[in-house]
Amino acid sequence: MTHVVVTGSEGFVGQVLVQRLLAHGLGGQRVTRLSLMDVRFAAPASDARVRQIEGSIAEAAVRAQAYDSAVDAVFHLASIPGGAAEKNYELGRRINLDATLGLLEDLRTQAKAPRFVFASTIAVYGEHLPPVVDEATLPNPGLSYGAHKQAGEYLVADATRKGWCQGCSLRLPGVVARPGDGAGMMSAFMSQLFWKLAAGEPITVPVSADGVAWWISVGACVDNLLHAATVDGAAMNPRRSYQMPVLRFTVGELVDALSARYGAERKALVSYAPDPFIQRLFASYPPLHTPEALALGLRHDGDIATLIARATAA
Ligand SMILES: NC(=O)c1ccc[n+]([C@@H]2O[C@H](COP(=O)([O-])OP(=O)(O)OC[C@H]3O[C@@H](n4cnc5c(N)ncnc54)[C@H](O)[C@@H]3O)[C@@H](O)[C@H]2O)c1
Repeated sequence: MTHVVVTGSEGFVGQVLVQRLLAHGLGGQRVTRLSLMDVRFAAPASDARVRQIEGSIAEAAVRAQAYDSAVDAVFHLASIPGGAAEKNYELGRRINLDATLGLLEDLRTQAKAPRFVFASTIAVYGEHLPPVVDEATLPNPGLSYGAHKQAGEYLVADATRKGWCQGCSLRLPGVVARPGDGAGMMSAFMSQLFWKLAAGEPITVPVSADGVAWWISVGACVDNLLHAATVDGAAMNPRRSYQMPVLRFTVGELVDALSARYGAERKALVSYAPDPFIQRLFASYPPLHTPEALALGLRHDGDIATLIARATAA
C-alpha cells in the first residue's frame, strides 16, 4: 500500500503531478491511495484511489483527514502566490509559513517518517543577484512569499533532523506553460508566449527581447519532484534543499524557437513593452550553476525544443 498526499493538487503543477502518480506510481510502487488537498475541486475524482479533501491546509482538522492513516509521501505544493501574499500578509503567512509548519508537526503522529517534498522557489534569492548564482549563494528574499518559502526550507530540514519526515525542498524556477490567462500573475507572459504563438495570436510582453529568465517545463519539474521523493536521503545535502536545474535563455530566443516550431511569421506577433519592475523580477537572471542538484539526479529539459514540447504537451 502506498499512500501519497498532495497539497495544492488543483494547481498547475499539482494536476500534472497527480496524473503522473496515478499513471506511473511512485518509485516503482503503485499508488494505492492518493489524498488530495485543495480549497476547492473543479470536479469529482474519477479514480477510486483518489480522496479529495476540500478545505484549507491552515486548518488542523482538514490536515488531520489526510494524515488519518499511514502516509508514505507528502508533496506540499499549496501556496499563495507572491503578488497575492504581498497584498495580504496574514493570508500569505498562514498558508505559506504556518500551514507548512503544521503539516510537518502533524507528521509526528506517523509511525514511520514519510518523504516530504516541499515546493520552494527562486524567489528566495530576491532581486540583488550576484553575477553568477550557485549552490553557495545566500538567500535574500525580496518578498514575504520568498521569506516564508525560505523559512519553510529550514523547517523541512529541521523536521528531517528530528525524524518526523525525510524531507527535501526544491526551488522551482518559472514553470511553463501554465494554461489560462495567468489570472493577473506578473510572470504570466512566460507561459502566455507558448500558448499565443501556438494559436497564432498576438501578444505584448512586459519585458525586452534580451531579458533572460530561468525556465523549466512542467513535465521536467514534476520529474524532479518525484525524484526528490524517492532518491536515497543519505545522498542529500544537510540543508535538504536544492535549486532545480534550469535552462537559461532570453525571451527573444524563446520566440525564435517557438517560431521555428509554429511558423516563421509568428515572430511578428510578439511586441515588447518592458516594465522595469517585471523585467527586474522575471527577466534579469544571471547564469546558474547547480552541480549538487545534478549529482543528486535532478534535471532540466536539456534543450529549448524539448522544453517547448514538454511545456505544451497535453
Ligand atoms: N509555477 C511556478 O512557476 C512556480 C515557481 C516557483 C515556485 N512554485 C511553487 O510551486 C508550487 C506549485 O505551483 P503551482 O504553479 O502549481 O501553483 P498554483 O497557484 O497553480 O497552485 C497552488 C494550489 O494551492 C491551492 N491552495 C492555496 N491555498 C490553499 C489552502 N489554504 N489550502 C489548500 N490548498 C490551497 C490553490 O487553490 C491552488 O490550487 C507552489 O508552492 C508555488 O509556490 C511554482
